[in-house]
Amino acid sequence: MTNVQNIEFIPGKVITLSTCLEKPSPFLFGFEIQDKFLEELEKYSFDKIFFLTEAHLFELYGKDLFNKISEKYSCQIQFVPIGEKCKHFPVLEETCEILIVKGVSKNSILIAFGGGAVGNIVGLVAGLIFRGIRFIEIPTSMTGQTDSTLSNKQAINGKTGKNHFGLYHAPIFIWVDTKYLKTEPLSSRRSGIIEGIKNGFISGASFLDYLEEVLNLEVKFTDEQLYQLAYNIILSKLRILKKDPGEKAYAIILEYGHTFGHAIEWLEKVTHGEAVSYGMKIAAHLCLEMGLISQQDVKGHYYIIEEKLGFNNPFPTSITTEKLIDAMIADNKKTGQAPRFVLLEKIGQCYNPEGDYLVTVDKELLMKVIDNFIQKERQRNTISLRAEC
Ligand SMILES: NC(=O)c1ccc[n+]([C@@H]2O[C@H](COP(=O)([O-])OP(=O)(O)OC[C@H]3O[C@@H](n4cnc5c(N)ncnc54)[C@H](O)[C@@H]3O)[C@@H](O)[C@H]2O)c1
Repeated sequence: MTNVQNIEFIPGKVITLSTCLEKPSPFLFGFEIQDKFLEELEKYSFDKIFFLTEAHLFELYGKDLFNKISEKYSCQIQFVPIGEKCKHFPVLEETCEILIVKGVSKNSILIAFGGGAVGNIVGLVAGLIFRGIRFIEIPTSMTGQTDSTLSNKQAINGKTGKNHFGLYHAPIFIWVDTKYLKTEPLSSRRSGIIEGIKNGFISGASFLDYLEEVLNLEVKFTDEQLYQLAYNIILSKLRILKKDPGEKAYAIILEYGHTFGHAIEWLEKVTHGEAVSYGMKIAAHLCLEMGLISQQDVKGHYYIIEEKLGFNNPFPTSITTEKLIDAMIADNKKTGQAPRFVLLEKIGQCYNPEGDYLVTVDKELLMKVIDNFIQKERQRNTISLRAEC
């Protein structure tokens, strides 16, 4: 099978990849590799380390690593609020100010230990302090390990939308230990895997075949299966980044399902991945309506998202077509007032009319597609409620 590479599972072995971005970072990958971390850190000179994480992740794993670093270097702990709650201006300001009080210097290094949210806030803090100091990412979630760290985009949310304020800042290295994935909440694990499914839709039909084979509804895996899955999702994103290290042209395709997804995530309390899963389903209907893909391709979206990954909750009832469109208008990819979309011209290939992967769609067509989608979802919901009675 092309596009899939199973590697030998050797606990303690570190594999070195690169993020392939304009400012590339070493991407060190393995299982149970914590004992090798200091060897990597020793390659850099610095005065102090600041270890930033969530309190529960510190208890679970961070403490061991923190203690190892503290035995050799000056290392201070700083907690941030859990998950998305840390991606706000007050947290950004407080964290920057606290680090200054604690003595951060231009020669210090920050460590971001946690999911994608921790990586984003710490990356932004590092990018702002003294106009940019160094940081290391240690992602602990599937999204962090296979998606968010393969991007130098660091951002927090604003009052009207996701990731509105940020900058590009590359970590000095990324340390990926798939051991951490074992305790990640399953909803969050699903959320990470959905981005891998997206990578298949946009650039590799055979990668979708692999995912259909290895996924299960409970998203339960052995250590080795998680290791292989994470590794292959990472490769699926790297293949795209290699073609556009600046993340400005071809790599825009990574936003498939995200114009809808970010708006849904903003309107309802669903994970990023669940929002993107709805977003890809609506995008598939839009592609069908525009004559780009077939009904079979749309069914393919539902099959892998719902029957293989288990993202099968009905669409949130509070979201109407009008609310969704208004939220998309505030999306960070807007040009004027019109939301733009990445679309498929077939499974594994994105639509690129006039050399741009972000496409503006006629508003009436957009409203029709969303109306139909929401109506079908409401019907599905009613039928399943009746069946439960
Ligand atoms: N920069 C980018 O290009 C990019 C790309 C994708 C996502 N993101 C951002 O990443 C965030 C989503 O990342 P996420 O899905 O990791 O969410 P998250 O960071 O909110 O983590 C999800 C939950 O899992 C918990 N968790 C993480 N690792 C754990 C572990 N090993 N064991 C137990 N619990 C664990 C966290 O405490 C949190 O409650 C969003 O803010 C999104 O915008 C950024």
